[in-house]
Amino acid sequence: MSFLGIDVGTGGTRALVIDEAGRVVASATEEHRAFASPRIGWAEQDPGDWWRACGVAVHKALAEGHLRGDQIACVGLSGQMHGAVLLDEQARVVRPALIWCDVRTEKQSRDLTTQIGTERLIQLTCNPALTNFTLTKCLWVRENEPENWKKVSSVMLPKDYVRLQLTGERATDMADASGTLLLDVAHRRWSKEMLGLVQMDESLLPNLYESPEICGQISAAGAAATGLQCGTPVVAGAGDQASGAIGMGVVSPATVSATIGTSGVVFAATGRPALDPRGRLHTFCHALPGRWLVMGVTQAAGLSLRWFRDQFGVGADGQRESYEALTSEAANAPPGCDGLLFAPYLMGERTPHLDPTARGILVGLTASHTRAHVIRAILEGVAFSLRDTFTIFQEIEVPVKTIRLGGGGARSALWRQIQAGIYGQRVETVEAEEGAAYGAAILAGVGAKAWPSVDAACDAVVRVAGTMSPNSEDSLVMEKAYAVYRRIYPAMKSILN
Ligand code: XUL
Repeated sequence: MSFLGIDVGTGGTRALVIDEAGRVVASATEEHRAFASPRIGWAEQDPGDWWRACGVAVHKALAEGHLRGDQIACVGLSGQMHGAVLLDEQARVVRPALIWCDVRTEKQSRDLTTQIGTERLIQLTCNPALTNFTLTKCLWVRENEPENWKKVSSVMLPKDYVRLQLTGERATDMADASGTLLLDVAHRRWSKEMLGLVQMDESLLPNLYESPEICGQISAAGAAATGLQCGTPVVAGAGDQASGAIGMGVVSPATVSATIGTSGVVFAATGRPALDPRGRLHTFCHALPGRWLVMGVTQAAGLSLRWFRDQFGVGADGQRESYEALTSEAANAPPGCDGLLFAPYLMGERTPHLDPTARGILVGLTASHTRAHVIRAILEGVAFSLRDTFTIFQEIEVPVKTIRLGGGGARSALWRQIQAGIYGQRVETVEAEEGAAYGAAILAGVGAKAWPSVDAACDAVVRVAGTMSPNSEDSLVMEKAYAVYRRIYPAMKSILN
């Protein structure tokens, strides 16, 4: 038996097949068209392009693994969270989707906060109103494009639009639904009170399922587009962060991941909804029944290093330096960078500042600093920013026993060592660091009863590949540097505002 995970990301859709031992049998990605940004802060994608990419990626993955559609026992979906896909009565797309990084909805977020109050919003949904969340996007369309809003008869999240094409079902999972600001996260149901307050009808929303639950079968049209077999069961799956965490075995309380991709996420599984009264963290349902997650987001993590590379690491021939070359250069600078510090707020910041207007800062430059110092300061600054989430975890008593590293930040030995030093704790990496599509495939395996539960599946397939402990001298330097780092943001606000 094989299980297929499909991750509808921002840059592309990835299809990944695993076997019953959790080994990756095949995988393929089809890129999406770049998102449109008709104005600063806007980000739109065509849901039809996700569906096209899904068909191509699944076909390619099946071909790569020499698999027939009938060898896939179950399918799981994962995807970029928060996007608003708006459909009319015939399930046609009304306008391009406003995706997660679209931040045009500052006014709608402010209005919700004024109308309902942060405290009440957190009581109802476990979260404050943020521009990333789906509800604010719906309200923007209702206010600014009433003729479009009139046509809307269902609101979907990105992966659930792909599900609709695959199966004909309108369904979502608790983890993805948590990022809409319409879910009563604590009770795992749509919040009637929120819907009433914003005058939206529950019939606009898909049915809710737990992540490993089967909620549809591949339809004839779905089969024709993908090469899968008609009737293959499809589980609910999960939003990309929860699904990625499943793939890294971050399922039980006190297990935490720190993933550095374009953005950076520190993610903890919890046995209850852990709330930050100031709303600096996201508190969502996890992809396991009866479990929750709490996570902090650094907007520009890997993106900070990419920015440096694109601006200062391109040769006369147009060749870009590799990340490996950049990080080995950074190793020539000492921990703490001789007093040079970087705050990675190149795209504003979510955790801990919730400030889309924050700006990046390099502070403490002298003539003795080299390029190596600057690169190392970026690597350290990103880890300091992730440490801010660990600091809030301490404040709200979220236990942290094991830290698993993921993404590009886990692939560089130097960045792993820097993270261990800055978090002041031993860090681990896992063998199959395959991201959200892998988690979706595991959920499909649980749906097909290959494993009795998500916990059992993670125990069976997730293996620790290596560990790294902080060196006590580095930790001391990093501790001092972190105290200085914490003073950068307030100073920046007093200068730039
Ligand atoms: C999570 C978030 C991103 C998106 C895009 O809150 O905004 O992870 O899901 O990947």
